[in-house]
Amino acid sequence: MKILVTGGTGYIGSHTCVELINNGYEVVIVDNLNNSSIDVIDKIQQITGIKPVFYQVDILEKDGLEKVFEENQLNAVIHFAGYKAVGESVAIPLTYYENNISGSINLYQLMKKHHVNNLVFSSSATVYGDDFDVPFKEEYGLGTTTNPYGTTKKMNEMIITDMCKADSDLSCVLLRYFNPIGAHESGLIGEIPNGIPNNLVPYIAQVVSGQREYLNVWGNDYNTPDGTGVRDYIHVVDLARAHVKAIEYALNHKGTEVINIGTGKGYSVMEVLKAYEKACGKEIPYRIMNRRPGDIAVCYADTEKAERLLGFKAEYDIDRMCEDSYRFTRMLDK
Ligand code: NAD
Ligand code: UD1
Repeated sequence: MKILVTGGTGYIGSHTCVELINNGYEVVIVDNLNNSSIDVIDKIQQITGIKPVFYQVDILEKDGLEKVFEENQLNAVIHFAGYKAVGESVAIPLTYYENNISGSINLYQLMKKHHVNNLVFSSSATVYGDDFDVPFKEEYGLGTTTNPYGTTKKMNEMIITDMCKADSDLSCVLLRYFNPIGAHESGLIGEIPNGIPNNLVPYIAQVVSGQREYLNVWGNDYNTPDGTGVRDYIHVVDLARAHVKAIEYALNHKGTEVINIGTGKGYSVMEVLKAYEKACGKEIPYRIMNRRPGDIAVCYADTEKAERLLGFKAEYDIDRMCEDSYRFTRMLDK
């Protein structure tokens, strides 16, 4: 079985390629290296013993992308390629809509033309917005997104759902990720943030490695046990394994399914900080700041559907997530 992985040299894509290869799939990666490095291909080979086929192609360039379809008999696509920085999406919305929507439409059109009927799409818990109570359930549907990035995820979900309604041969799994963190246990692949990290764990990692002085804790007056924001952090390797399950599901079912991928358990900012301190054996300086605009207090997944349809359950706990993140950070510093 040959799987096209767009954005396959990126953070989640690279871990998913490893799990796909370990499960006997052939992997073809398309990435324009906008937010990742070619070195990742060698790292995947070091971990799995197999070098994935790689095309440095921008999904906005349809001719280049079509060549990939012509040269490979693909069975399915996992679509990670896209921009993901929330703040940047507010500043340059058209760039986000062009890349995340026009790029995706190019891909879906080529799938149709070349009769590739199975798709797994990277969506996000951000599509629930602030409209619902936790745990977030898939049946709630789409909430009010608060930034263009989130809107591109919501629009992709709507486009894919319409595609599936119009074509009964299609099988599409929309995975709503909660908060992926951590890295592969080898320390060879992980998340390398571009510029100042927006997300919690990459920021903590930079404080630990001395690149930043202290963590800004965005608010301690939320209605949560310790007042800081609560999120459903999931180990990126667990998330990658969920993609293998989603591919298996897509290959055996028709239609669209929306599925949350989280652990079902929330941790506060202070709990993550403590787990990271345990992992690195140091105290991590922090300061309490005002709330970050657009943040919600609590976000965690209802994981029943992932268990029922995919047989997926996350295995790693927050300590393991922080240990693996720390190991990767140390390897980067070497
Ligand atoms: P990432 O930036 O590490 O990976 C995305 C990859 O896509 C990068 O390697 C980048 O170079 C590539 N890319 C971007 N635009 C492209 C284009 N036009 N053509 C070809 N390649 C292109 O991000 P990630 O964290 O691995 O996220 C993967 C997907 O999951 C994204 O769609 C993201 O929105 C989604 N997602 C991520 C998170 C998260 O917290 N990381 C949460 C929810 C959803
Ligand atoms: C952010 C994005 C969301 C995206 C998700 C996963 C925003 C507003 N939302 O959500 O769209 O889907 O990442 O990529 O950016 N925190 C700190 N200090 C920091 C960083 C974060 O205290 O330096 C806190 C936040 O207030 C939050 C928690 O840590 O309570 C997690 O933050 P983050 O990692 O940015 O993820 P989300 O807020 O879930």
